Amino acid sequence: MSNVNAGETSRHFDEVLQEAQAGASRRQVLRGGLGLSALSFLGLAGCGGGESTAAAATPLKALNFTATPLNQTYDGVSVASGYKAEVLLKLGDPIKDKDLANVPVPAYSNTGSTADTVASYDFRAGDHHDGMYFFGLGNNKWDKTVSDKGILCINHEAITPLFLHTAGPSPASGNRTAADEVQKEFRLHGVSVVEVNKVNGAFQVNLASTFNRRITTLTEMDIAGPLSGHPLLRTKFSPTGVKTRGTVNNCASGYTPWGTYLTCEENYAGYFKRSNTTGRSANERASEVRNGVTSTSGRERWSSISDASATDDYARWDITVTGASATDDYRNAANTFGFNVEIDPFAPTSIPRKRTAMGRFAHEGAWVGPVTVGKPVVFYMGCDSINEYIYKFVSTALWVASDVNGGLAAGDKYLNDGKLYVARFNSDFSGEWLELSNLAGTQTFTRTVNSVATTETFTFGDTSDAYLNTRLAADKKGATPMDRPEWGAVNPVNGEVYLTLTKNADRTVASTEPANPRSYTDNSTSTKSGNTNGHIIRWREMGSNPAATTFTWDIYVFGAESDDLNNPQVNLSGLTADNFLSAPDGLWFSQKTGILYIQTDDGDFVKETDGKGSTCMLLAAMPGTVGDGSTVAVTNSFGGTTKTVTTKVGKTGELKRLLTGPIDCEITGITETYDGKALFVNIQHPGEETSLANIATPNSSWPYSNTGNGNPATPTTAKSGRPRSATIVLTRIDGGIIGTDFSLS
Ligand code: FEO
Ligand code: CA
Ligand code: CA
Repeated sequence: MSNVNAGETSRHFDEVLQEAQAGASRRQVLRGGLGLSALSFLGLAGCGGGESTAAAATPLKALNFTATPLNQTYDGVSVASGYKAEVLLKLGDPIKDKDLANVPVPAYSNTGSTADTVASYDFRAGDHHDGMYFFGLGNNKWDKTVSDKGILCINHEAITPLFLHTAGPSPASGNRTAADEVQKEFRLHGVSVVEVNKVNGAFQVNLASTFNRRITTLTEMDIAGPLSGHPLLRTKFSPTGVKTRGTVNNCASGYTPWGTYLTCEENYAGYFKRSNTTGRSANERASEVRNGVTSTSGRERWSSISDASATDDYARWDITVTGASATDDYRNAANTFGFNVEIDPFAPTSIPRKRTAMGRFAHEGAWVGPVTVGKPVVFYMGCDSINEYIYKFVSTALWVASDVNGGLAAGDKYLNDGKLYVARFNSDFSGEWLELSNLAGTQTFTRTVNSVATTETFTFGDTSDAYLNTRLAADKKGATPMDRPEWGAVNPVNGEVYLTLTKNADRTVASTEPANPRSYTDNSTSTKSGNTNGHIIRWREMGSNPAATTFTWDIYVFGAESDDLNNPQVNLSGLTADNFLSAPDGLWFSQKTGILYIQTDDGDFVKETDGKGSTCMLLAAMPGTVGDGSTVAVTNSFGGTTKTVTTKVGKTGELKRLLTGPIDCEITGITETYDGKALFVNIQHPGEETSLANIATPNSSWPYSNTGNGNPATPTTAKSGRPRSATIVLTRIDGGIIGTDFSLS
């Protein structure tokens, strides 16, 4: 390591941190301009000066709060003492003060009333808030030094139809008859782009901002990259296969180093209806089965509305072959979904672009690796289904710093051409990135899922099949099937990558292996064994080069519940009441403090019969590095099968619960202001397990039941009103940096 010169205050924060970790003296670190919060999490702050190193420093608790307890009954957001949560933007809230005709957008009735007109939903927040990113806004451009004004992009993954209409969708089953209901649902999916301003210490949406817009299932999109114009993307809407309409099931997200937003299409497949396989080639049939485009009704039954619209609003969700050719029907419509979609939040009239070079699968999100001038730009991605894979995209273009604020043109440069890889995790804790773009000819191969082998035959043509049928290409290459890849996050200190494997109820004892090593029974799943509580895997690229084709890995943490406390075969990370967690899903590394935030999505944990289950939660962690822990033997046993697997588990380090959510919710979506003083967090689908019969007394009435910061010990206010997904802002009451007790100027 080179010396840190006194005047070198512009050096990259991460570089200084690495140096500090490598043992640079405290004086050297301070000369480099490293802030107090970063020192504190490295254990360097608070020592008495001089040349003390990390090892000699007075240890300080980096996570300076007391864990908030597990919560089974409190219908609100509960936060650790010293913190507060405020609601920012709820389902149905206006995102503009006036519509295009200059008519005010009225408040949301939240009754399913037809008084909320269809047209008004073009200017309302959608449902099921999910992935997000905060873009600091200065001079109408992206500015990472601005924290009190920004553009927040928010995904709306899906809907809870029960609460959207007077009494759920009508009728409850069979063909839908109310076109207005479906038109509202079209608009409740997609993305909200809203300017947020900090006013008197609290964030609020600036309803007058010209940046505010909705992107929905109806928004025109360009097909960009290698699949643009491909014959299998041609439709009646776009006979040349260069456009499609809308985005759907936008789960997690990402941001680019040039300042655009990536919204990621996860479970798109289920929205389409396919009545039969008539008129399909063997390749198309294999593709549909492998991607799950096999519903005979479509998830929300949108195509069942009798379609007299000139724009085929409803018919376009039916991919059954009905016309003479692909340009007469929508047989290829599902092939125009399953991508990462790039949106320029700073150009409100720009047309979003589907980035096909990043592959087509159930995209959870896209997380950029460390960016270096003159090197490729790298994104990590997960495919969220059980036994699916982890991917990496490496751009052909090399990073040029002046491309910041380059918008979609920069996106064309970095995201339309590159190498697509899938991960294989070896049993010796090494790993390989297997390139997907060089398959050709008819291939027969076997995909083994949970010990069940399926033979697949697919004829790869040109390289476009790696982009259109990415899952099949990954099968052929021998990727490692994982326990449901969800969010990723890149450690700003050292570039190591973390990725949640939320759970896999179908993981059999026989199919356990080092990277997915647990299969066990739980109170809620005693009739079968699986990975009930999930884990977080992490890796370090060879030479810390994001574009490397090999890596080393271990498992950062294994989820476990209260009743697993003394079960060493399940509670491999030694979790306790401060940090029991199940089904890790959302992840975020604070760029300010290096704290890792973990969000959970487990509707079963709350049902634990020992009284110690919990609603979903947000935790904060101070992880170490890949390989800092130990090798352990996990013995799995169920139904007469026993298998011992050797894996490597990292040191958990500090890990504390910061927040629990209301009943039936998922905690998902997280981003922060650059000063580290505000975390935006989404509360998704509170009350979603309510039945139609109980619509007037839903399981949750959040945010009406309990607003602000609460405590599970506080009696829940009488429930009244339909629950609403919403974005909340989490801050410290004293305005300090989240997770630490140091305020930075
Ligand atoms: Fe949409 Fe992977 O959760
Ligand atoms: Ca349990
Ligand atoms: Ca998710």
